[in-house]
Amino acid sequence: MAAPGAGKWAGAGRAPTVTFDIITIFPGFFTSVFEHGVFKRARAGGQLEIRVHDLREYTDDRHRTVDDRPFGGGPGMVLKPEPLFRAVEALSAGVAPTALPVVLLSPQGRLFRQQVAEELAGQDRVALVCGRYEGVDERVGRALATDEISIGDYVLAGGELAAAVVMEAVARLLPGVLGNEESPRQDSFSLSPIPGVEADFKADAVASLGVTPACGRGLLDFPQYTRPPEYRGLKVPEVLLSGNHEEIRRWRRREALAKTWRRRPELLQQVTLNQDDLEVLEDLQRGELIDQDAG
Ligand code: 6GU
Repeated sequence: MAAPGAGKWAGAGRAPTVTFDIITIFPGFFTSVFEHGVFKRARAGGQLEIRVHDLREYTDDRHRTVDDRPFGGGPGMVLKPEPLFRAVEALSAGVAPTALPVVLLSPQGRLFRQQVAEELAGQDRVALVCGRYEGVDERVGRALATDEISIGDYVLAGGELAAAVVMEAVARLLPGVLGNEESPRQDSFSLSPIPGVEADFKADAVASLGVTPACGRGLLDFPQYTRPPEYRGLKVPEVLLSGNHEEIRRWRRREALAKTWRRRPELLQQVTLNQDDLEVLEDLQRGELIDQDAG
């Protein structure tokens, strides 16, 4: 799938948009979510279209039944295949089968990461099928969904919150949704290369793009501060008040590396580190050894 900056976004012309079709048994769940922040802006700006579909509209019995007891026994109910197949088929009527990716949201899916958000942001249209935690008939995952996504290793009662998480992560990547076009690339978990910047980035190239190098590209973010410079005895680090941009850049990179090393060391495996970074990590390692010795 295309990543931002490639594929459908490469050519001039039509503004890039994503349409999400959500299939849910709780359509009312989403009413306020989409009226705030990034969702509101992306919809108003025309970059994002969201259509919510009530699964019960695709039932054919008097009780509008969407689930049934599991074959083989066990607790809970399982979402029946027929309404889900009917709903997706109604959405994709007149569309080439490949034109509509169908994502089943379930704890059994592949893990949702920034890279997956970038993939989805390159689509024109995505159907999101919200599962229930007890289960969805396996034939939906096998024969209807083209993808299955989980937002983390914990269990939610249903896929609705997960769908909102996925959509917000995608919406904020669409050009013009955030004020700053480059902002998404600065995110902690974005590994997108910044055009014109080498892997072990050049400080001046980065500065000219207005991109702060300490953050982004797979590291946790550096600490941010705003006024007042002292609050309840807690001071803003002196360097940030210094006006020395090179010093600030180095401090931020160091802080981002340190926080990542302490909290999420596994992320460092995927990051391109330059000589300065390696020296910072060596310093940290030495510091950590001293700490450990101190108990
Ligand atoms: Cl996508 N659905 C449910 N029910 N639980 C989850 C999830 C999804 N992702 C993490 N936990």
